[in-house]
Amino acid sequence: MNRDMLLWDETLFREPVILELDHMPEQFLHRDTQLQSLVYSLKPAIRGMRPVNCLLSGPPGTGKTTAVMKVFEMMKDHSDKVIFVKINCQMDSTRFAVISRIYRKLFNIDPPSSGVAFRKLFEKITTRLIDQEKVLVVCLDDINYLFHEGHADEVMYSMRRAHEQYPGARIGVIAIVSDTGKLYRFDPKVGSVFLPEEIDFPRYNNGELQDIISTRVRLAFYPDVVPDEVRDLIVEHVDLNGDLRLGIDLLKRSGLNAERRASRSISKEDVEKAYESSRLLHLRHSIMSLTSDERTLLELIAKGSDPRTGELYSLFHEITGLGYTRFYDMVNKLDAAQYIDASFSGKGTRGRTRILKLRYQAEDILRCLER
Ligand SMILES: Nc1ncnc2c1ncn2[C@@H]1O[C@H](COP(=O)(O)OP(=O)(O)O)[C@@H](O)[C@H]1O
Ligand SMILES: [Mg+2]
Repeated sequence: MNRDMLLWDETLFREPVILELDHMPEQFLHRDTQLQSLVYSLKPAIRGMRPVNCLLSGPPGTGKTTAVMKVFEMMKDHSDKVIFVKINCQMDSTRFAVISRIYRKLFNIDPPSSGVAFRKLFEKITTRLIDQEKVLVVCLDDINYLFHEGHADEVMYSMRRAHEQYPGARIGVIAIVSDTGKLYRFDPKVGSVFLPEEIDFPRYNNGELQDIISTRVRLAFYPDVVPDEVRDLIVEHVDLNGDLRLGIDLLKRSGLNAERRASRSISKEDVEKAYESSRLLHLRHSIMSLTSDERTLLELIAKGSDPRTGELYSLFHEITGLGYTRFYDMVNKLDAAQYIDASFSGKGTRGRTRILKLRYQAEDILRCLER
């Protein structure tokens, strides 16, 4: 390798962090209505009152998480009475993981890892809140990942019970649902008490995408690096896909492609080349959060093994040694996380069986599995 390659310090990026997906944008455009509803619902917490619960929904990459973080940041400056916890349900996908996350935030230590019931931890949390006269606001981000085995219902139900069993406990919930097609309903006993303020995050339209992406371009790159036609091409891709993350990732990757060929500006070809990787961004990211057994199951399905649960289980068991209950839980989780559709049934060797259908192109799944 030529040593000079690493020393070459000419770059197209003026401020590279602007194109990281976890970067909190200074300018958050075209979401004023949603921000206002959120502020309005959470404001009571600043005065020590229970906030109004919220349900945010919309396709991926429409600013739901960012909106909540913005409001949390804003409110932190106004009150030390409110404790905010944001939980990424894709990472913490069981009721125990969720409650542990809250516990950690309140007590600054891990909860005992075994032998403690969910309810016990919950009781400690509420007692703490009452003692310290704090209001807790929990954001369950991408709660659709909890929609299996009744985890979401259980968590929501406990929050409700908190107010009945521990008068004085004040907890508000912001649930974020990334609706990728399937509508989920909470259990009626949850639904009747959750009664959230519903805040809709529609896809950005073409003009809005122009604004948002132009702003990023201006902040992230040196002048003239991104010609108008290149920006328009990126906007077009995002417009078709709906996920703003795709646009940000495309900017970054096509910038790198241009640098690689030592060009001072990005070409349309740089974008098209970047698109091959960027379009799988979402999928790759979510597959990374699966356990290795879940990945094994997904791989079996993607490789076109028998789609019937009965026969699939035999294969899965052979590889992992895991039993049917675990297998069945994983099928439900992959279903809840939208990788597969498990709602079909058919005839198997031992009576009725479920038929698993992949929601993605098999080769895309396999590509992301190998990273
Ligand atoms: N209105 C906006 N202005 C600027 N950046 C935005 C806007 N909406 C979303 N983004 C950016 O797009 C990416 C995805 O947003 P995010 O809030 O994570 O979407 P969601 O939670 O709906 O999937 C983030 O990097 C975020 O900074
Ligand atoms: Mg999000």
